[in-house]
Amino acid sequence: MSAVTTGTPAQAPSVGTAHTRVEGRAKVTGAARYAGEVPFADLAHGWLVLSTVARGRVRALDTDPVLAMPGVLAVLDHRNALRLETDYTGLMGMRPDPTCAVFQHDRVPHRGWPVALVVAETSEQAREAAEALVVHYEQQPHDVEFTGERPDAYPLDGHMPAVTQKGDLDAALTSSPVVVDAEYTTPEEHHNPMEPHAATARWDGGQLQVIDSNQGVTWVAGELANLFSLDPASVRVRSEHVGGGFGSKGVRAHQVAAVMAATVLHRPVRVVLTRRQMFSLAGYRSPTTQRVRLGADTTGRLRALDHRSVSATSTVYEFIEPSAGVARVMYDADAHHTANRLVRLDVPTPTFMRAPGEAPGSFALEAALDELAEKCGLDPVELRLRNEPDKGPVSGLPFTGRHLTACFREGAHRFGWADRDPRPGVRREGRWLLGTGTAAASFPAGAAPSTAAATAHPDGTFTVRISAADIGTGARTALTLVAADALQVPPERIRVRIGDSAFGPAMIAGGSMGTRSWSWAVQAAAGDLRERLAFGADIPPEGITVRSDTTAAIAALPPAERHSFGAQFAEVGVDVGTGEVRVRRMLGIFTAGRIVNPLTARNQLLGGMIWGISMALHEEAVRDRASGGHVGADLAGYHVATHADVPRIEADWLDDTDPDDPVGIKGIGEVGIVGAAAAVANAVWHATGVRHRDLPIRPDRVL
Ligand code: MOS
Repeated sequence: MSAVTTGTPAQAPSVGTAHTRVEGRAKVTGAARYAGEVPFADLAHGWLVLSTVARGRVRALDTDPVLAMPGVLAVLDHRNALRLETDYTGLMGMRPDPTCAVFQHDRVPHRGWPVALVVAETSEQAREAAEALVVHYEQQPHDVEFTGERPDAYPLDGHMPAVTQKGDLDAALTSSPVVVDAEYTTPEEHHNPMEPHAATARWDGGQLQVIDSNQGVTWVAGELANLFSLDPASVRVRSEHVGGGFGSKGVRAHQVAAVMAATVLHRPVRVVLTRRQMFSLAGYRSPTTQRVRLGADTTGRLRALDHRSVSATSTVYEFIEPSAGVARVMYDADAHHTANRLVRLDVPTPTFMRAPGEAPGSFALEAALDELAEKCGLDPVELRLRNEPDKGPVSGLPFTGRHLTACFREGAHRFGWADRDPRPGVRREGRWLLGTGTAAASFPAGAAPSTAAATAHPDGTFTVRISAADIGTGARTALTLVAADALQVPPERIRVRIGDSAFGPAMIAGGSMGTRSWSWAVQAAAGDLRERLAFGADIPPEGITVRSDTTAAIAALPPAERHSFGAQFAEVGVDVGTGEVRVRRMLGIFTAGRIVNPLTARNQLLGGMIWGISMALHEEAVRDRASGGHVGADLAGYHVATHADVPRIEADWLDDTDPDDPVGIKGIGEVGIVGAAAAVANAVWHATGVRHRDLPIRPDRVL
């Protein structure tokens, strides 16, 4: 036994100071193991076989020749697969997506639907056999064509109400001297994290163990327990390092297939998705068609706001991209109407993708605001300042810190906005037309219950355990800093362990709520531990552990409009010869609560902004009407922004703190992408005088 006290006098705060990632060395040296490379004795490899038809039935699978191929151990399909339980309500009140419940029937609801898993001794053998497997289909007519005018679009509530309305919209539009009425479209977009989805499943005694790449280990563990009718205590999911997720890394077909195979083969089985397979199995952002109608008086004050969005889902599951939701927060009007509608197509089920709703929604709304500024003869920044609401336009609730005006003022100053000539199409530099644009950003700042444990060791170090996921955000480092302040010790004395469902329930890395929710629990556990140690406790060899659960504290949060905000600015050049748009510089100024680690926070915000450039100019998954599949389902055919596309880009923030959060955090995961595409599109208009309402702004559309 030895006596340990926490640091006195009080340590300089760690939260708010720049720290490199605690796992950075492990990542760059290759010591960090990702889900597809954790070694296992006796490991078998599964390879998914995906349907080549867009709708129909599996009539037969010629498995015998494949089973005779070298190394092949099994072929799982709807005839022999374990039956799964799908009648339950899981995390966030969501029903399971049948796409994950593989091999339960012979129906094929979209191209790229998993019809079989071939398991072999090596990955190469599994792949070769999977590609050799002949599947006979009964093909049925399919419909993959998304257009916003479909009469079958229906409102779906999702995680927010489908429709909100107040006032007399038609009357307000008719009586408004200035009206904008425009339709905007965004294409199907895909997450494309660097690390593809991968899972290894094995049974150890009576416990199912899964090494995975996901955004929430207790979430995935809970879903697997439900699907396989297992005692939740007998399922352990680990996911220590994750090479990006963006909303795509929940429960998907490959984990379920791996568990099935491990169960019947009695050995560990790994299933890894290829980049191409991710295009139909990882989820994606639905295309949207959005109509925005704005009515204003001649001073630019909004009288009417109507934002309607249509997105698509599969025939097997309802997922909605709620693009009209952003209008419920950003701007008020006497007549205010928003609606999110859905159509069902023979396509894979879309899912959450960075700023679901807000990313495409802010493109339409903030581009429409720019059109309104033009019609009113007002500066686009000034128009937004004149329309700042003093409470939630739909909720009527107060904002806990809405500093959008400050973001615009600071951004405009730093960007040099005051010198801007408002006329479009008049600045030319050689073959380039130049323009600047701006847009507003917001994203909800939420928190969800989590549990954590903090342990003091006799050697003066501490271990924090929480089933958090660091999907590249720097969450683990942020939690180290939060724990350091709560314990008043240097961060070097703290080891944060994450990504293990054995650590108990915690929020997923999603909704920009991960670091905030986990920090809350970590601070509570570490703060309690510090109090326990305050009088110089004797620490036994196994340490002293204190646990926290923030369920009650979060339930007691007062109702309010909590959001992060931002102002985006972009300057573009448009090549008059080729139609190519180049972003020359970009600036985002945000208020996003307390910034825990400026280094990784800047990365997060920049990553979002760069994705906005990508969304504005490059990203588009093209679906072939005849086959129902993608034309270029890889990184050669699906273009994402690279370093060469981002010459000068800067993200910064103003002081802000959430008064109801113990650390002051709001969340930065998604706000960076919001408004970014609109700022670029608005700059393209300023450069050329032409409005581009369909993304991406490809060269052929510009010319
Ligand atoms: Mo994010 S789209 O909530 O992973």
